[in-house]
Amino acid sequence: MTDDAGQERLAAGYRAFAGESAGESPRYSALAAAVAGDRDVLAFLADLPAGKRHPTLLLAALRFLGGVPADGAELHDRVAADAERLRATVLDRATQTNEPARCAALLPALAAIDGPLALVEVGASAGLCLYPDRYGYRYDGRPVGPPGPVLLRCTTSGAVPVPAAVPEVVARIGVDLAPLDVTDPDDLAWLRALVWPGPVEAERLQRLDAAAAIAAQEPPQLLTGDLLDRLPDALALVPAGATPVVLHTAVLPYVEASRRAAFVETVRGLPVRWVAQEGAGMVPGTGEPHPGGWGPYFVLSLDGRPLAHTAPHGGRVDWLG
Ligand SMILES: C[S@@+](CC[C@H](N)C(=O)[O-])C[C@H]1O[C@@H](n2cnc3c(N)ncnc32)[C@H](O)[C@@H]1O
Repeated sequence: MTDDAGQERLAAGYRAFAGESAGESPRYSALAAAVAGDRDVLAFLADLPAGKRHPTLLLAALRFLGGVPADGAELHDRVAADAERLRATVLDRATQTNEPARCAALLPALAAIDGPLALVEVGASAGLCLYPDRYGYRYDGRPVGPPGPVLLRCTTSGAVPVPAAVPEVVARIGVDLAPLDVTDPDDLAWLRALVWPGPVEAERLQRLDAAAAIAAQEPPQLLTGDLLDRLPDALALVPAGATPVVLHTAVLPYVEASRRAAFVETVRGLPVRWVAQEGAGMVPGTGEPHPGGWGPYFVLSLDGRPLAHTAPHGGRVDWLG
């Protein structure tokens, strides 16, 4: 993409991101706005394949290689001076943010299923959402789960069935296009680079490190490949006597619409329970989709039935009807 119209489309995308990210990350908002006005950086981006030009990927790659740029001028200079390494990182990596705090949104659904549970998470990244039984929770201050280094705070409204205890999990199985390994320092550094600088950054990094340490002690079984292709292999790993639970969160917007429909159709036909926390409408019957599939809240669903609206990162659950 080298034409002016193409660069203007890229600039518009960066300007939109600047608006969307302003609350969570004033620094990323300012950097994205600077990129939108920087023809050299836009030219660098335009040379990348279509799926590799998004602000989250560029900014994570910059952070991974040399920290968060202080301002647009530093970003400009680093892109110019380090273009080859930056390009290689963007091509090699993907947006795979793994947020264990989503377990606070998933727990009320997981706890409603007769166990013991064999969790099969598709789009698992490093698998940090496969440890809901190993984290501690505070629902409006009410404690649930074991005390430990990961404490997930969640506010609620409506009749959230906050469980008295966490469910028993006997298998942690994941599928991802490119699973990350929390025992690999480079993969852990990439996961850390995906966290946005801003008011909740320190809390998120502490949680990520603590959850990664838990996962490293008892690593998940992660299969490489597409969620639909590898689902049978993943389910084949479920131990006898456990309830298979297909689980996914913040994944379906990445999946092309016809593959997404095929995945939903397949899961509906399997003898499994199905827990999703996705943008509205990504699971049919959970509302009107927002542009791009994300939106300001996610919908928690069990077996395709919407249960709650939740904060995308899991810190709030608003129970439906
Ligand atoms: C935003 S991350 C979410 C990770 C994790 N579920 C969480 O909530 O913390 C999305 C993950 O989905 C994976 N993914 C995207 N498309 C996929 C596909 N077709 N099959 C398997 N994994 C996929 C990506 O590689 C990435 O790790």
